[in-house]
Amino acid sequence: MHGALGSAALALLGAALCAAQPRGRILGGREAGAHARPYMASVQVNGTHVCGGALVTEQWVLSAAHCLEDAVVDEVQVLLGAHSLSRPEPSKRLYNVSRAVLHPDSRVDTIDHDLLLLQLSENASLGPAVRPLLWQQEDRDVAPGTLCDVAGWGVTTHAGHRPDRLMYAVLPVLDRATCNLRRYHDGAITERLMCAESNRRDSCKGDSGGPLVCGGVIEGVVTSGSRVCGNRKKPGIYTRVASYVDWIQSTLADVVGN
Ligand SMILES: *[C@@H]1O[C@H](CO)[C@@H](O)[C@H](O)[C@H]1NC(C)=O
Ligand SMILES: *[C@@H]1O[C@H](CO)[C@@H](O)[C@H](O)[C@H]1NC(C)=O
Ligand SMILES: *[C@@H]1O[C@H](CO)[C@@H](O)[C@H](O)[C@H]1NC(C)=O
Repeated sequence: MHGALGSAALALLGAALCAAQPRGRILGGREAGAHARPYMASVQVNGTHVCGGALVTEQWVLSAAHCLEDAVVDEVQVLLGAHSLSRPEPSKRLYNVSRAVLHPDSRVDTIDHDLLLLQLSENASLGPAVRPLLWQQEDRDVAPGTLCDVAGWGVTTHAGHRPDRLMYAVLPVLDRATCNLRRYHDGAITERLMCAESNRRDSCKGDSGGPLVCGGVIEGVVTSGSRVCGNRKKPGIYTRVASYVDWIQSTLADVVGN
């Protein structure tokens, strides 16, 4: 259902964007407590981290559709129980994926409906370092100013340093009206999206697909559109999971196959 943009082309596009503008990921964040976010997943293509994700049941990981546009399901794996991407850790395990379900309305050229559900080929083995997190099912906006937690393995500095260990930042929710001002996102923020401040601390593309956690519950998913990061006037954009309850629930209920 998606145009297959070659991975090489995407990589080049990514490189060009990186070179053209300051980009960072969990910019201004700090190293997370090891395994303190046991729902965090690294979504990998051919063994390389491409995006974050969140374990929502023992079989399903929630992420962003744009993360996978160019990959086929055989190339996709999910790393759970990790703090460091490279070092051996007893709790770490790579899972194959049996199904990748993109939101049917997601499109390469928009930030809307940027959701992905990955079904692991076997149930995750749960423990202190691997644990699903609840996601918000009540469809109402998170109050502006609420502090939310975002974590990821993306690049951390404008120079492009890629951390090996999970980083996190705490970001205040920004009200939609402000986020939609012309000098910010100029009307692009629908009711199915939310914004968080991006003043020095921010999430960015390598963190795409990762959860925005407010009050211990997943409220948003980091969108994967290209965006300047760490610029106060370009707040982070997150897909509101509560706006997609029907799609998420019906996908998890797994009416087709399996
Ligand atoms: C993954 O690796 C296979 C085999 O080397 C290659 O054909 C494919 O293009 C790679 N996919 C991506 C998305 O890099
Ligand atoms: C994952 O998939 C690969 C390739 O299909 C296979 O060789 C490997 O055994 C699978 N791993 C697990 C844990 O299922
Ligand atoms: C995986 O977990 C689900 C519940 O989340 C359960 O219904 C199912 O039987 C489990 N599958 C296996 C293979 O253990």
